[in-house]
Parts: sequence; C-alpha cells; structure tokens
Amino acid sequence: MRVQKVIPILAVSLALTACGGSGGGGSKTSSSKAMTSTSKAISSSVGSDSNPIPSSSSQESISSSSTSSTAETSSSSNSSSAMVIVADMSSGWRGNGTGNTGVTYTIDGVVFDALADNIGAVFDVPKGTVLEKAVIELIVNASSDFKTSGGNLQPFAQALDESAAEWGCWAPNGTIGNATDTTLTCKILEEGRLNQSVADTKVGVQVKPGANPLAGTITIKSAKITLAPASSSSSSYSSYNANVASLKDLADFPIGVAVGNTDSPSTNILTNTQEQAIVEKHFSQMTAGNIMKMSYMHPNNDTGTVADYHFEDADAFVAYAKLKNMSVHAHTLFWHADYQVPTFMKNFAGTPEEFLALVDTHVTTLVDHFEASNNIASWDVVNEALTDDNPSNYRTNSPFYVKSGNSPVFIERAFQAARAADANVDLYYNDYNIENNDAKTVKMMEMVTDFKNRNVPITGVGFQMHVCLRWPSIASISAAMKGVADLGLKVKISELDVAVNQPYCDNYPVNKISEFTPAIALEQKKRYCDIVAAYKAVVPPAQRGGVTVWGTTDAGTWLDGLYASQYEGEKISWPLLFDSRYGDKPALRGFADALQDITCTNL
Ligand code: XIL
Repeated sequence: MRVQKVIPILAVSLALTACGGSGGGGSKTSSSKAMTSTSKAISSSVGSDSNPIPSSSSQESISSSSTSSTAETSSSSNSSSAMVIVADMSSGWRGNGTGNTGVTYTIDGVVFDALADNIGAVFDVPKGTVLEKAVIELIVNASSDFKTSGGNLQPFAQALDESAAEWGCWAPNGTIGNATDTTLTCKILEEGRLNQSVADTKVGVQVKPGANPLAGTITIKSAKITLAPASSSSSSYSSYNANVASLKDLADFPIGVAVGNTDSPSTNILTNTQEQAIVEKHFSQMTAGNIMKMSYMHPNNDTGTVADYHFEDADAFVAYAKLKNMSVHAHTLFWHADYQVPTFMKNFAGTPEEFLALVDTHVTTLVDHFEASNNIASWDVVNEALTDDNPSNYRTNSPFYVKSGNSPVFIERAFQAARAADANVDLYYNDYNIENNDAKTVKMMEMVTDFKNRNVPITGVGFQMHVCLRWPSIASISAAMKGVADLGLKVKISELDVAVNQPYCDNYPVNKISEFTPAIALEQKKRYCDIVAAYKAVVPPAQRGGVTVWGTTDAGTWLDGLYASQYEGEKISWPLLFDSRYGDKPALRGFADALQDITCTNL
C-alpha cells in the first residue's frame, strides 16, 4: 500500500545542528509504508576544525530502502570544515515548472510526472546558505517510459526571486539508468549570487525533452548538498563523461588548443594544474592566445633604452609545450588589430621601402629566435588582412597596408622573410569568415592562388572557424576548405569554437538561447563532429595542418568578453569542448566521433 500526499507548496523550517547532532526529520514507518508529515524538510550538520564533523560519505542516513528517520550520525572526525544538507524525502518538496501537478511521496522517494519541459521537483534552502561551489547530489530513478522518451535530467539551483541560477548541470538520456538508480551530481559554479542574501533558493531536478514527447515518472530517492568549506578551492568535477581517453591519440594530424600563460591565473597553463591536465591529456599542439602577437613580442624598436623584443613569456610557453611533447603553432607575425600593433609601427614615418625593411627585421628576428627552440611547427605569418565587404578587399586602412605605400606587398614580403629565416617551418595566411565560401573566400583564394603562381612561399591557409551553432552550413565550410586544398596548400582549422549564441548569426537576439540545455549541447556535439568530419573529408592527409580549438573551458572563452554588451554580461556563448568546471562536454565526444569516423549524431 502506498500512502500518497500531494503538497503544492510547503513552507519548511531548517535545523542546522552543530557537530553531527541529530537534525531530526520526517519519518517513515516500515510496517505500513506510510509516512507522517513533518514541518522539517532538511537536516544538516556543521563542523569546524575545533568542532569535528563526520566525513560527508558517512553522514548520509537516507537511502531508497531506508525506513529510518533522516537524523544524521556522527561517525568520524574530519579536520576539513564542511556542511552537508540532507533533504527529508517525506516532506518539504514541491512541484516546479508550469503545469506541474505536484509531487507524490512514496516509500521509494519523491515522485513527479515528467509531463513537460522544465517540470521537476524542488525543496528550498533558506537564505544565508552559501551555495557557491556546493555540490548537489541526487539519486534518482527514471521509469522506463521516461528513458525511452529520450528525456534528459537537469539538476539545478535557483534563487526564488530568480536573481540567479545554476543551469550548467545536466544528465543526457544516455547516462540515465532504465528504471535503475542514477546519481546526479551538480557543482554550483554560479559565483556569489546564489549565496542568497535576499532570497531562498530552490534546489532540485527538472526534465528536459529529448527526441520524443516526454513521458513517465522520476523518483528522487535522496538529495544532499555538500557546502564548500569556507576557503575551498574549486575541485574537479564532471557531470558528463565523453569517454575520450585522449583526443590527440585519435588523429594523425595536430590537435591544438589556444592557452595563455600571462592572461589570468585561471587560464595560465604554466600554473593552473586543471588547465594542464586537460591540455596534456587531449592536445598535441599549443597556440598562445595572446603572448606571441606583435605588441607583446616587439614592443619597441631601436630605442636604445628599453628592450625592443620581449621573449621571456613566449619562451616559457614554448618550453612547456616541448617538455610535454607538444608542438607550437606560432600566432602571429602581423595582425592589424589596433591594440596589437606596436606604437612604433603605428607611428612609423619612413618610406615604403624603409617600412618593408622593418617588416623584414621584425619577421627575421622572431622566426630566427623561435627556430632555435626546435619546437615551432608553423607560423601565422599574416592574420586578417582582408575585409568582410562584398566584394572583399585588402584592409586598406591597416597601418601595414598604408605604410607599405598603400599596397598589400607587406604580406608577401613577410612570407619571404619568414621562409628565409626558417627553411622548414609551415607558413600560414590566417583569417576569419573565410569558411562562409562567399566574397571573402573569393578574395582569399585570389590572393593565395597568386602567391602560388608567383612562388611566394606560403604553405597553407588557416581557417579561424569562429562559427555559430547553425551557420555557416557544412557545405559552405567544406567548399571553402576544398578550394584551398585543391591548390595543393595545407589547411588548418586554427581557432575553432562553436558559439551557442553569436550576435551576428542564427538571428540573435530573437533566437537567443539562454540555457545550455541537453538538446543544445547535443546539437553542438554534432556541429563539432560535422566540422571535423568535413575537414577530414576534403583535406588529404598530407595537407592537414591540424585542428586547434580556441581555448579549453567555457569559463575562459574570449567570446563572452568580446560580446559582453550584446550578451548583457551573461556568459552564454558556451563554445568549447569543456565546461567551466573542466568537465567534458558532448562537444568533446562529437570531435572524437569525427576523428574515429563515427557517424555524427545529436544523440
Ligand atoms: C583573441 C584572444 O583570444 C583574446 O584574449 C584577445 O583579447 C583578443 O584576441 N582571431 C585571432 C586571435 O586571430 O588572435 C583572437 O584572439 C581571436 C580572433
């Protein structure tokens, strides 16, 4: 017999009990399997160095088969300060989401019907609880009809006033058991704002649709929140396992990643061990996100008082790569971006011939310097010299063009100087929006065809490939890469990222995607797969310069900064292979699928 109780909203009280004391809670009687109502939904224990607490693994007192109370027991000492909130499974829960019919309490746990997108069950945590970096752990059992519906689950936390939420966690259908228990873990990354100075927060799980209409029920068997110790550093966490032991091992061409070593501590490859773990595991090549650009490398010229060149950071970067058996794609000898052009170049007032001599010196000095490391696979010799106009043209307002005598001659001069300095390194022209196969692609093809015909020493073309979730088409990307490959040049995907939101495509903001849902993550997975598969399909093996992603985790992407105003400060590009907790994303699986010649799917 099942005694069921439906409570749409129930105000609950919270007991914080120090030092492993009993928090009390609702009770279930084993004989009748009936449950008694109680006002208490949550029990917790707290400890500190002077007030030892049980380790979190020994604290849990609720299990699916348990008929005892939710009281916690103290069983061991632990010097780390942590607090665990354990939800009562017999009261205090409520339905969440439009159209929710509430929750049902059974002997197995809290049950809700997977009726529609965003329907779920939650319990409340009162304001004042520091949820930042807390870990939510839910043991759930999804019915078979839910499993076959393709539905997904999303554990979450959201302030009741909706001022903040953690939406980054989810379990795709493939990871959910078929009427067997599944543990969902979610680390609260949302910084500060979920610390609820003004509002309570609801914590729970909701359903997200898959390919078929949602169906079935979800039983939540237990729920606990382990709060982070006051001074904790974030721990490694993964809610999705892409089952990719090493991306680079799946390819016989370079698999690269852009990383920094001065940009910020959180992305410093020389010091951040979580960055290192991802980079060393999955990548065979590194590109410096910034520090090998012009203004970093060559800030001054012949001043006699300060150094003309700044090699220290880049040398450390290249040495790290070498130590870890990664090559370096060096980026970049010329880039028009205003802040990247050294002031002395902007102010250069000599003749075009004198400027081209400066081009020679700049290129020769840098290429010679790094050739000595024996670890540079390739250079971006010139970056972004073409416009996005229709028809596209050279960037006639770039200082290099102007000072070359209103001529693009600096481009070929740079290639010649680079080849003279290093006979073996690959030399690329690199640009964005050339994968669209439109006017800019035509201009790029005209330029590199001319270079080929005149023996200007270009090895290949780098397609930056900062693309959108749904644009440009794979047909356009393939055709553009094929054009270059057909010239006998190498093709490199040099800065790949797939933005979920991008202000200039997919009809943003009308079609703004404000949540990184399972469906979006799987769409992104297929997109990564399709792009890498297209690369393999149209670029012959000997012409594959490799595929580089522009960053490791979504937390470090350059796009959220670039489009901060259009995104209104939200971090909604989610463009990379790893989430902001250093966890795998389905995109990683998609990339691996293409490398393994597995059909690209959004499943
Ligand atoms: C970006 C870096 O990632 C950012 O950190 C920096 O603020 C701006 O430059 N195309 C390029 C790269 O060739 O050099 C750019 O890198 C991204 C666009």
